[in-house]
Amino acid sequence: MKVALIGANGHGHSHRRRIAELQAQGVLELVALADIQPIDDVPPGVAVFTDHRELLAATRPAVVVICTPPHTHLPIALDALDAGCDLLLEKPPVPDRQAHATLEAAAAEAGRSVQVGFQALGSYAAQQLFDAVHDGRLGRIETVATVASWRRDDAYYARAPWSGRRIVDGRPVLDGALVNPLAHAVMQCLAVAAAAGAGEPSRLEFERYRTRDIEVDDTAFARITFREGLRMLAAVTLAGEDYIPGEVIVTGTGGRAVLEYPTDRLDMPGPPAPEGRIDLLENLIAHRRDPAGVPLVAPLARTAAFTTVVQALTGPGVPVPHLIGDEFVTSVGTPPERVRVIGGINAVLREAAETLKLPSESGVVWAVPAHTENLV
Ligand SMILES: NC(=O)c1ccc[n+]([C@@H]2O[C@H](COP(=O)([O-])OP(=O)(O)OC[C@H]3O[C@@H](n4cnc5c(N)ncnc54)[C@H](O)[C@@H]3O)[C@@H](O)[C@H]2O)c1
Repeated sequence: MKVALIGANGHGHSHRRRIAELQAQGVLELVALADIQPIDDVPPGVAVFTDHRELLAATRPAVVVICTPPHTHLPIALDALDAGCDLLLEKPPVPDRQAHATLEAAAAEAGRSVQVGFQALGSYAAQQLFDAVHDGRLGRIETVATVASWRRDDAYYARAPWSGRRIVDGRPVLDGALVNPLAHAVMQCLAVAAAAGAGEPSRLEFERYRTRDIEVDDTAFARITFREGLRMLAAVTLAGEDYIPGEVIVTGTGGRAVLEYPTDRLDMPGPPAPEGRIDLLENLIAHRRDPAGVPLVAPLARTAAFTTVVQALTGPGVPVPHLIGDEFVTSVGTPPERVRVIGGINAVLREAAETLKLPSESGVVWAVPAHTENLV
């Protein structure tokens, strides 16, 4: 199976490592890489292109991995579908519901698949949680929350022209804590809500904050109400105190479960979850060989609610994230490793996840009123 990678630097290196492992197992053959920047360590015999259209025409891959910046995803994905490829498209896949519909229609017309790079959906532990929720083993699900406390340094925001930006080349970039580095936390919660039969997200209330000179948030709180009444809250920061990798906390009338999604540790009544994950690229190739027998783990359709939330968080009318005053924020280290830390942030995150209240509703001193978007 001929595979190509578009966007070979940055996170593309992780894809190159995984592709090399699968090639060693005889699952695929890497035929080409494309990047507008020079590519290091090109494996022997692999063609290199600066234009993805030339790559598609010259090497005719069956499967293409797209790992370029978010605002470039849609045109590249449409070209690759037009060339008859199945896609592993990095998250966040597209900026809005219209682009989602365009991509879905193009995939249907081409008869090809789009798998989205939400690798945590392939976790067996996550699957065990989704099954328990779906089967009612935690009773009726009352709330879903996620909390994560990370740090990102100056170098992170200087690494790419789109980093920390809202618009590049007239297109929404989709950076910001909830829509990019912690997108997996949001997606895991949305998958729990889907398993609970919660229906579409219908209302989003959110507060976005920043601690540095960027156009997007590095700290964000979002409360989603679903059509059937379920409420979900995401509380995340990239300016955190002690590291919290990312918890998905599910509370039902019959029990509670906590999934640490980056490590797949699941704390839930019942037998322990199997370890490991279904690999998204391997799954896409298996699906291509046997569409009826092997379902996709992260098909584009499964990410529709995520894109609805992304659109509401990043759309043109949304207020710029509020800059938290220097009296509440400490700088730690020296550039380019300098990080910003909000005093007391972990307690604020925990309280929001526990109470489903936004910081402005809990009287947090640096908080500003929430913004509300109706999603239907
Ligand atoms: N699934 C995950 O856990 C995960 C982790 C990190 C990043 N990502 C996603 O991967 C994507 C890339 O992120 P990144 O941090 O590697 O970005 P990056 O900017 O560091 O790297 C992107 C690469 O794409 C190249 N590129 C840009 N436009 C191109 C084009 N038109 N054709 C070919 N190459 C092009 C750039 O030169 C760069 O080398 C984003 O969508 C990001 O959200 C996903």
